[in-house]
Amino acid sequence: MLIIRRVQPNDIFPVIALAFETLPERYNPSIFTQFYESCPEGFLVALTNETIIGFLIGIKTAPDTARILMLAVKDTYRKKGIGSSLLTHFIKEMKQQNVTRAELEVRTSNKRALRFYQSRGFLLQETLQRFYQNGENAYSMHKEL
Ligand SMILES: CC(C)(COP(=O)(O)OP(=O)(O)OC[C@H]1O[C@@H](n2cnc3c(N)ncnc32)[C@H](O)[C@@H]1OP(=O)(O)O)[C@@H](O)C(=O)NCCC(=O)NCCS
Repeated sequence: MLIIRRVQPNDIFPVIALAFETLPERYNPSIFTQFYESCPEGFLVALTNETIIGFLIGIKTAPDTARILMLAVKDTYRKKGIGSSLLTHFIKEMKQQNVTRAELEVRTSNKRALRFYQSRGFLLQETLQRFYQNGENAYSMHKEL
């Protein structure tokens, strides 16, 4: 059974491991704790059999705006609706906080994520040059909630 819930302190280490496994960007492990402390309502995990198989980290950047910073699902669990469930829960949490707009960036090469967000109502805004550590460009995207 799939469970989506807010992150808890014991989840942080497995989330760091999953981020390392699934995302190309290398993050300082301490930022995961910082996100948990600053915006626990935007840090969600997906579990099956008590194992973390996906997570979403978002923060509020203004009273009415949220930014999705990371979204990842373990590769063997993809295409089962887990990413969509994380996104839906995040949007619900944010609406409860009076957030009306969600923003994010995605690598221009990450066609799967681009399609994922577009088919869930995110609009492509602009290209951000050399946005990532390796010099790759990003698309900025947004959705009115
Ligand atoms: C992007 C990502 C989070 C999507 O997670 P996911 O769990 O596979 O997402 P979903 O299963 O909800 O949807 C993925 C696709 O599978 C399809 N799908 C969902 N349930 C399905 C099912 N039961 N059977 C077949 N296909 C299904 C969806 O229609 C969707 O297709 P679309 O994107 O063309 O609309 C995942 O691919 C990932 O972790 N990628 C690596 C990290 C990354 O790129 N993150 C985003 C940038 S930070």
